[in-house]
Amino acid sequence: MSRTAELIIDGKSYKLPIIEGSEGEVAIEIGNLLEEVKVITLDPGYKNTGATKSAITFLDGDHGILRYRGYPIEQLAEKSSFIEVAYLLIFGELPTQPQLDKFTHDIKTHTLVHEDTKKILDGFPSTSHPMGVLASLFCSQTAFYPESLDPNRSAEGVYLSIVRSLAKMPTFAAWSYKNAVGHPVNYPDNSIDYCSRFLKMMFALPAEDYNVDPVVANALDKLLILHADHEQNCSTSTVRIVGSSKASIYSSISAGINALWGPLHGGANQEVIVMLENIRKDGGDTEKWINKAKDKNSGFRLMGFGHRVYKNFDPRAKIIKKAADDVLTKLGVNDPVLEIAQKLEEAALKDPYFVERRLYPNVDFYSGIIYRALGIPVDMFTVMFAIGRLPGWIAQWKEMRENKEPIGRPRQIYTGHTTRDYTSITKR
Ligand code: CMC
Repeated sequence: MSRTAELIIDGKSYKLPIIEGSEGEVAIEIGNLLEEVKVITLDPGYKNTGATKSAITFLDGDHGILRYRGYPIEQLAEKSSFIEVAYLLIFGELPTQPQLDKFTHDIKTHTLVHEDTKKILDGFPSTSHPMGVLASLFCSQTAFYPESLDPNRSAEGVYLSIVRSLAKMPTFAAWSYKNAVGHPVNYPDNSIDYCSRFLKMMFALPAEDYNVDPVVANALDKLLILHADHEQNCSTSTVRIVGSSKASIYSSISAGINALWGPLHGGANQEVIVMLENIRKDGGDTEKWINKAKDKNSGFRLMGFGHRVYKNFDPRAKIIKKAADDVLTKLGVNDPVLEIAQKLEEAALKDPYFVERRLYPNVDFYSGIIYRALGIPVDMFTVMFAIGRLPGWIAQWKEMRENKEPIGRPRQIYTGHTTRDYTSITKR
């Protein structure tokens, strides 16, 4: 029997349908409320508002569960590869070997970017943050592939845009770094795997042999899997809402990259290392900084702590914390901020302020420490997150398109002036 909710406004009752997800999640459907009752719902930050039905990622914040297409993140991080996970997210099932071979081959065929992209890159001063450069280069692909602007593109055309996006992302990312350090760019080496290709473009210097360390490439692959999707977060909702206007895949994803950049979202991984370094330089007194985070007037938050949906623990943070230990040991890196991070975490988890608000380390708390051990500069941390999140953005954009979702257009409660007459400038 279908369930309904009852809403009573001014003594009048309205029945609203209840929708249930495959994991028992419950939503009250309010689609016709405005038409029937002339009221809207108000939920700043969409804290309690579902914007879509999606079959891609399941997340249970109370129990620290994250699954891509039903597969637990722990299993995927341990046993799968980033490209296999990308296929799973985008096409819904784990690939067979021939499917994976074809997908890998198709991606390799498109790693080169149009040479004119370099002219666009050359226009950026070396002071440009790599995230801004990445978003711009991504969007510039609408110019090189104008057919991608067609909202009625065939399935084959969409597939081409998808493999182009995945193929060119590491090239754009590495080039955004080369621009920042003022070095010549490297071209993709298709004889090596996805992560190694990125690392080689990023670190190889002219006239020098560069061999990718497999420990580094494997650690990066795992990090990318952990970042690959996270249902309707800020950047993914941005991708879906931009895409809902039938903007192209490149412009939708470029918007997602910009949304990810902010310090409350993907930009937090950069902020965590900056914070840990500041604490170290300040003498390493973690208690002082915990107190600062609790003081609402300080304007300071413990970066890498807290999450909109995880209220118990972030399963990605658990995996990353262990991976950070492994990678640092394997690479023989001794990073003094790791100890500070561990002390901060220990203190915060015991502190009533953090306990009452259910604030736990999130994915960004330890990821920066691994990136640093892998030799990735701080300004590139959020770019790494973007490389990881790309398959999720693509999958969500594709789902939104295939489900023929309406254009995203929230309502508002107007709080400005009521009508008033214009006065000429001499009378004001
Ligand atoms: N340090 C200190 N206090 C915090 C923190 C923090 N990191 N996060 C939340 N709080 C407090 C906040 O002040 C508020 O307290 P009160 O109830 O007394 O007003 C309460 O906890 C709830 O916080 P909120 O800002 O209302 O929660 P939100 O769901 O709107 O924000 C968040 C979630 C992730 C933006 C926030 O926890 C935060 O700013 N964290 C630091 C930035 C960060 O690490 N972001 C990365 C998120 S994970 C990667 C991703 O998916 O983007």
